[in-house]
Amino acid sequence: MRCRLGCWMVIPRWKAAVRPDRVPWCVPDLSGNEPGYLAQAIAAGQAGPTGDFLARFEAGVAELAGVRYAVATCSGTAALHIAFLLAGVRPGDEVIVPAWTFVATANAVRHAGGHPAALDIDPQYWQLDPDLVEDFLTRHCRLEGSRLTDPATGRGVAAVAPVDLLGHPADLDAIGAVASRHGIAMVEDAAQGLGAACRGRPAGGSGLAAVSFNANKLITAGSGGAILTNDQHTATRARYLINQARDNPVKYRHGEPAWNYRMTNLHAAVGCAQLDRAGQLIAAKQRIHARYVQELAGLDGLMFQQQAPWATATRWLATIAINPHITGTTASQVGACLAADGIQTGPPWTPLHLTGAHHGCAPRPCPVAEQLGRDALHLPSSVTLTARQQTRVITAVRVAIRQPARI
Ligand SMILES: Cc1ncc(COP(=O)(O)O)c(C=O)c1O
Repeated sequence: MRCRLGCWMVIPRWKAAVRPDRVPWCVPDLSGNEPGYLAQAIAAGQAGPTGDFLARFEAGVAELAGVRYAVATCSGTAALHIAFLLAGVRPGDEVIVPAWTFVATANAVRHAGGHPAALDIDPQYWQLDPDLVEDFLTRHCRLEGSRLTDPATGRGVAAVAPVDLLGHPADLDAIGAVASRHGIAMVEDAAQGLGAACRGRPAGGSGLAAVSFNANKLITAGSGGAILTNDQHTATRARYLINQARDNPVKYRHGEPAWNYRMTNLHAAVGCAQLDRAGQLIAAKQRIHARYVQELAGLDGLMFQQQAPWATATRWLATIAINPHITGTTASQVGACLAADGIQTGPPWTPLHLTGAHHGCAPRPCPVAEQLGRDALHLPSSVTLTARQQTRVITAVRVAIRQPARI
């Protein structure tokens, strides 16, 4: 089969051919202080989960998220797991999550012993819809004693976990208000949100949050995460749980079964170098997204995530939704076509309730999540993307959906 660019499609669907002019999807820029800081950490013999860069990284992350405490972890999933425990999620509890997110949000609920209940996202900003959360809690759930219960599952509803999807904050104020009204906790999954803001308050600063520093994130440490809070007791408990619940470091006394989820100083060294130029990284993401919008937004059948008037988005990942009924082409076909031209894209996340891992976890229909799960395509969004590479991507998308630019 030939794609519309005239290339034979012998390449797996979402993978771009490895060729010298390949445009990668979302890779970090490690060309700043990263090598120097790593060398410093190694020279100081600080490779493990303590050291100067770790302390500095935690302080820098806390400042960027506008919170008092950041507790660094080995991954965002680990940070979320601990955050759910700190929020009081107990085995058998239900946690409301958006149906369209990376699977780690729901996995972390399960790690804490809970069960995700996936509700739909809104069609404009692609975030967990506060009205649907309110409606689910008011009309579907019942108070049994002091416990809000989902009658369909018999489970208590312990928390809601909005996700700042694609570098755009969820409506944290609205969801926070719903959560307090119903007496449940809120855990913000800010894995994709660091640097964004909701009504002027930095993402990750809603009370209890988790961020990720994996290799494709706005700020990377190679791998890593952090638990964010303003509460000293919560931060102390988080530190305890990620360090094998060690009561007495000298005598190896451990108060309860726990985890080794600590970040290493080497990862923190990379993270510190990234934080040095956080402003530049955010500006690069926003510039890349703005150009995609400028040159693609007018095309029939192609849609972008809108920015809410109350939001400042980092535009960590530029994502389009392609309506196959209008364009005559599916997102998957566009992805394959770009791959054939050496352009790597990201496939859409499968809605949680349609994954094998969390099959059937949506108590109500999720049409928007299902539509994005079919029609979305994550475009190349590396901060290192050159203007020339971006021109190639834009041209390839236009050709793939049969709307080439008029010259
Ligand atoms: C929304 C969301 N939550 C959680 C995570 C988990 O982070 P990590 O990959 O660092 O474990 C990610 C990572 O991609 C994410 O995008």
